[in-house]
Amino acid sequence: MKKVGYHNSISRKLYLSLALMLTLSLTSFAQDAAPAATATPAATTAVAAPAVTQGGDPVKGKEIFNTNCAACHKLDAKATGPALRGVGAKYDKVWIYKWVQNSGDLIKSGDATAVKVFEANNKIPMTPFPQLSEADIDDIIAYTMEKKEAAPAVLPGAKPKGEETGISNDIILGALSLIMAILIVMLFIVNKSLRKVAAANGIDVSPKEPTLPIWKAFAKNQFLVLVTSIFLLLASAFFVYGYFMQVGVDQNYSPVQPIHFSHRIHAGSNGINCNYCHSAARVSKNSGIPSLNVCMNCHKNISEVSDTTATAEFSKADYDKEIAKLYKAVGWDAANQKYTGVTEPVKWVRIHNMQSFVYFNHSQHVTVAGVACQTCHGPVQTYEVQKQFAKMTMGWCIDCHRKTDVKMQDNNYYTKIHEQLSKKYGVDKLTVAQMGGLECGKCHY
Ligand code: HEC
Ligand code: HEC
Ligand code: HEC
Ligand code: HEC
Ligand code: HEC
Ligand code: HEC
Repeated sequence: MKKVGYHNSISRKLYLSLALMLTLSLTSFAQDAAPAATATPAATTAVAAPAVTQGGDPVKGKEIFNTNCAACHKLDAKATGPALRGVGAKYDKVWIYKWVQNSGDLIKSGDATAVKVFEANNKIPMTPFPQLSEADIDDIIAYTMEKKEAAPAVLPGAKPKGEETGISNDIILGALSLIMAILIVMLFIVNKSLRKVAAANGIDVSPKEPTLPIWKAFAKNQFLVLVTSIFLLLASAFFVYGYFMQVGVDQNYSPVQPIHFSHRIHAGSNGINCNYCHSAARVSKNSGIPSLNVCMNCHKNISEVSDTTATAEFSKADYDKEIAKLYKAVGWDAANQKYTGVTEPVKWVRIHNMQSFVYFNHSQHVTVAGVACQTCHGPVQTYEVQKQFAKMTMGWCIDCHRKTDVKMQDNNYYTKIHEQLSKKYGVDKLTVAQMGGLECGKCHY
């Protein structure tokens, strides 16, 4: 009678805790699923605003605008010419036809509006477009009358691209530790109940005699102690050596720069040649950082990035802010398209910095040896933020000098040296090392 009662209470407790476990894990999954479910309707509400057209086709207008007008005009900012958004509401249609087809004639004819526009814009002549029909210009006007697209707002709770959308690790870990805790509690309960059953049946369950603690047994065994200490000594020597070998090695050093300058956008997406900016690399020891007037060759006209340039990490607004910093530094007044004369230097943070007792020459490696920038600097055209790719230790230089052949073709300088050295070593090709690239004096002053 008694035994049955105990048996019942154990299984009851077991079932209870199992039920508890299940409900808890279910609710934690439900909590995770909730934000995902609410995010969907929010996404569907972002419907494009209807375009305000004036009989023209804004899509065709955009095309014509980009081929003919975009060199001087932007929709929302002043470039060489004024911003054109809403220009259809500003002037009479017929006036715009005349202006676009030949603004010079209109100004000469003494048209008051035309003269005013001309004088307000530093008297820069606008190209005449006699080839554009009135229908074409209607299309352009329709395009300029489109409402400005609101920047795509980030949905609350939306996760950036690339992040996993399944159950988060935290929830899985939480559920697992909960299950562990419940198991421990259950073990205690089972243990207690079994003891009660044993006591009820008169069985003796007093604890065993204490045995020798494990560490004392270990200390008594001299062979084990010896092996362990040797192992510990070797392991610490390994780590100490590793620690000292990385002192002064700044691989992957990637400081925050005063202007966020993306090599991915410039050298990658826009394919600008490294030499356009680092023009000294081919001809001198140093590669150098371009001066700001090199930037302004392009940025006089590029005051903002296109919408497609934005990434999950950096929005268009972030990038535009960085270009504004460039303008501030060179003293460029974008609204009036002229230099103010107020400049401030940009203090780029130096990333690569060779020890001063080492001689390294870019032109020798880039021009003479024909080594690609990427061999030493990594896939720079993919870097959002510039960093040090190579270790730049002595071993790194030596390794490459041992492995790389000297480029002898089309280089008369090497013809004689090659004849002598190839006889000496009995080889066809020469590595840099065989030419003397391991001599201390070549790299050390
Ligand atoms: C070579 C540069 C250039 C090109 C190309 C150009 N514009 Fe202009 N545009 C100007 C300048 C500069 C002004 C300011 C008036 C002036 O100084 O002549 C202007 C003014 C205007 C104005 C008057 C705007 C206002 O708010 O007062 C309109 C409209 C206009 N342009 C339309 C066009 C259209 C449409 C095209 C393409 C078919 C075009 N422009 C191509 C330089 C250009
Ligand atoms: C539009 C101009 C431009 C182009 C094109 C460009 N760079 Fe740069 N580069 C810069 C500027 C500005 C800096 C300094 C800011 C920084 O470190 O991000 C820089 C920094 C660097 C640095 C780090 C310099 C240091 O401080 O040690 C390296 C290395 C480099 N560029 C390599 C390259 C390579 C390789 C390419 C071609 C794939 C390239 N760059 C193309 C402008 C340019
Ligand atoms: C050969 C043309 C060219 C030169 C030179 C150039 N840029 Fe750019 N720059 C661009 C283009 C194109 C974009 C991207 C526009 C887009 O995505 O719509 C851009 C974008 C940018 C941006 C916004 C994106 C980012 O990288 O953060 C900054 C800031 C910028 N440039 C700074 C500079 C600086 C500083 C220099 C000089 C060291 C420079 N640029 C030289 C063409 C140039
Ligand atoms: C053989 C390896 C190697 C190659 C190839 C190479 N670099 Fe370098 N680069 C270095 C080293 C090493 C430094 C550090 C030099 C120093 O601190 O004196 C450096 C430094 C730089 C710097 C920082 C400024 C400076 O001159 O110290 C820039 C920018 C740079 N390199 C750009 C380039 C570009 C662009 C190319 C391709 C045209 C290129 N590098 C090719 C190894 C290389
Ligand atoms: C990616 C391979 C590579 C790396 C890395 C490299 N070099 Fe070189 N180096 C070469 C080649 C190839 C030549 C042969 C150039 C020639 O034909 O004159 C060379 C030549 C030289 C020379 C001239 C040797 C002579 O006999 O005239 C010096 C000095 C030198 N390198 C220094 C360095 C230093 C310092 C470093 C490390 C910071 C370094 N190099 C890293 C490939 C490399
Ligand atoms: C190919 C170029 C090159 C040659 C050849 C070369 N070194 Fe170096 N050496 C370097 C560079 C690069 C460093 C800087 C390493 C660093 O900063 O981690 C360096 C650093 C050193 C250091 C300072 C220790 C350290 O790690 O900072 C000593 C000492 C040294 N070299 C001795 C020599 C001797 C001796 C020889 C001739 C047997 C020699 N080097 C040949 C490139 C070279």
